Amino acid sequence: MISLLIACTDPVVVDSSPPTSESTPLDSEAPANELASPAPAVDLDDAAEVLHASFVVENFAYNGQVPGPTLRAKLGDTLIVDLENKLEVETTIHWHGLAVPYAMDGVTWQSDPIAPGESFRYEFPLNQAGTFWYHPHFDTQAQVDRGIYGLLVVEDPSDPSPDREVLVAADIPDEVGEDGEHVHGQHGAGGLWTVNGLSAPTLPVEAGERVLVRIVNTSNTGYLDLRDVRVVGNDQGVLAAPTDSVLLGPGDRAALEFLPGSEPIEVMSGSHSLSGPGMEHHDQLLFTLVPSGSEASADPLPFDFSGEAATPDPGTTDVLYTFQGGAHTEQWAINGEQYPDVTVETLQSGGTYVIEVRNLSPTEHPFHLHGLEFEVLGSEEKRVEDTLNVPIRGSVRLLVEANNVGDWMAHCHILPHAHGGMMTVLRVE
Ligand code: C2O
Ligand code: CU
Repeated sequence: MISLLIACTDPVVVDSSPPTSESTPLDSEAPANELASPAPAVDLDDAAEVLHASFVVENFAYNGQVPGPTLRAKLGDTLIVDLENKLEVETTIHWHGLAVPYAMDGVTWQSDPIAPGESFRYEFPLNQAGTFWYHPHFDTQAQVDRGIYGLLVVEDPSDPSPDREVLVAADIPDEVGEDGEHVHGQHGAGGLWTVNGLSAPTLPVEAGERVLVRIVNTSNTGYLDLRDVRVVGNDQGVLAAPTDSVLLGPGDRAALEFLPGSEPIEVMSGSHSLSGPGMEHHDQLLFTLVPSGSEASADPLPFDFSGEAATPDPGTTDVLYTFQGGAHTEQWAINGEQYPDVTVETLQSGGTYVIEVRNLSPTEHPFHLHGLEFEVLGSEEKRVEDTLNVPIRGSVRLLVEANNVGDWMAHCHILPHAHGGMMTVLRVE
């Protein structure tokens, strides 16, 4: 049970407040405000290439922990998750960023959600390496908001191994009003981030270690604006070149490399206004790496950043999505339509298509596509993603290979926007 009651406190006092989640089992017996990865799922299968976990979802948590059990496997492994629904409401699991078979995607466009008291087996091969997460895709806004989600890593055995790796879910817990009503977390500027349920924890490390932090933005509405960091991976694996900043909208992920010497390293998120610049900027401390020892910083891990050449933009557009709406109306639409009353665009299996997403609204939107990865056209190097921010009055052009048959959700991952109708269906047949 997650009880997140953050009063409208001054951000400054957060440091001294106790952890906001009472139920986050961690990898180690970490003291209260030390950051550790959410405890791993128990593997019920002896075979090295199968990860078989059993989840009970109850009291708005998977197996009683928030974030849920961490799933970690290797490229080519099979994942099996048996889900038993002990909630009083229907639910599903969506495997965010993984191109799974349609029946495993956890959406309820054509298939029923899992009823209270029922169970469902998810089973599929893991064919993509990277940092992913899983969450319900039924009444998503409310269920994710309550803390029903977990982290999933698919390792690429050809990547170098860090000395220490920590998985982090960054979230903005909601304020719960006196009447029990959820007041949804504010966009970056006012909301307070927690990492694995903790406010500004420390991460104990050794000087001279190479530390990899995989961070997932699990918030409903907040943007993480990370600067002065070394970004080595995005949502779908290693980047073509490391960068020193990254903006992560809801649902987006990054892999950050830290090379601590003897000095602490503070990891901050800048505030980010969805409606463009102009708001007062104040940074929030997410966590602090606190080294022991006096070794000098190590050299970076030898990731293979060579990447592949970007595909030239064919110049044509097969599917155009225009994102419309504004905070003043709370009406959110794609091509003037609101889910579920949408026109289903159809792609033929085996074809390659260009999707253009145009943002006509005065606020940013992170575009997320199920079932298919996309290459971001116009990048210098080949860049493959599944969740991508679309700036105000900007557009992105995406190349997809229609290699997975199904009815794939395409939506904004700001969950109140998706809930408000900013979601459509892309069919591959
Ligand atoms: Cu993270 Cu349609 O979902
Ligand atoms: Cu949106």
